Amino acid sequence: MSIVEIVGLRKSFGTNDVLKGIDLQVKKGEVIAIIGKSGSGKSTLLRCINGLEAFHSGNLNVDGKPLIHDSVTAMRELRQHVGMVFQSFNLFPHLSVGKNIMLAPGLVKHKNAAANEAQARKLLDRVGLSEKFNAYSEQLSGGQQQRVAIARALAMEPAVLLCDEITSALDPELVGEVLRVVESLADEGMTLIMVTHEMNFARKVADRVIFMHQGLVHEIGEPAELFANPKTPELQQFLGALHS
Ligand SMILES: Nc1ncnc2c1ncn2[C@@H]1O[C@H](COP(=O)(O)OP(=O)(O)OP(=O)(O)O)[C@@H](O)[C@H]1O
Ligand SMILES: [Mg+2]
Repeated sequence: MSIVEIVGLRKSFGTNDVLKGIDLQVKKGEVIAIIGKSGSGKSTLLRCINGLEAFHSGNLNVDGKPLIHDSVTAMRELRQHVGMVFQSFNLFPHLSVGKNIMLAPGLVKHKNAAANEAQARKLLDRVGLSEKFNAYSEQLSGGQQQRVAIARALAMEPAVLLCDEITSALDPELVGEVLRVVESLADEGMTLIMVTHEMNFARKVADRVIFMHQGLVHEIGEPAELFANPKTPELQQFLGALHS
């Protein structure tokens, strides 16, 4: 069964046609890596999938539910099924790590305090930060903050987790610890759609890689095949530029 189904998705900003008809089916447990040049529409696609951007035409279903912008209930439903982690960690600085993770489940799902705290502690353990429950984000490294942001997204028990260049703002020595967490989620069967510049990681962890170019899925395939045998000049050039 597809967790995410996208058919003919189009999105413009004014006269700028950013997504020009995206078709994509993502199966439960699949890991999708999205690559492509700056401005090709990668972030916009993720933002459409979690309802942060309204789109103009096409259909988008998440976990069997259609995304309908005019329906407050439908949007609330959707947000509960889609988790997102951004390049900037966006933790609330005035809340402890534990409270950051407990915020949405408490507010949105009305989870009782004890169960909420137990879950937050379990998630912190899962991202390797069990001792940081009472810490504040300013006391954490970038890699630790990003792992808290992942735990916070998981606290809503999303059907799919979207990651937009989540290691791009990190010092190189902190990238690995975040990627290891993502890899463990993939191993546990989480459905993941991630925009990434980490080609080695995409090659190792993704089931399929999407190369976006000028608002379209320009090539899609298994990583071994797509990286070894890019079919279009655009992907050949993109991959070539990375090695030069
Ligand atoms: N809120 C917005 N208002 C107007 N234009 C936007 C907005 N967000 C994105 N765009 C435009 O949409 C296009 C695609 O942007 P998007 O951020 O999706 O690209 P991207 O592939 O994620 O690029 P990058 O690799 O730099 O993150 C760009 O031309 C950008 O200027
Ligand atoms: Mg982007």
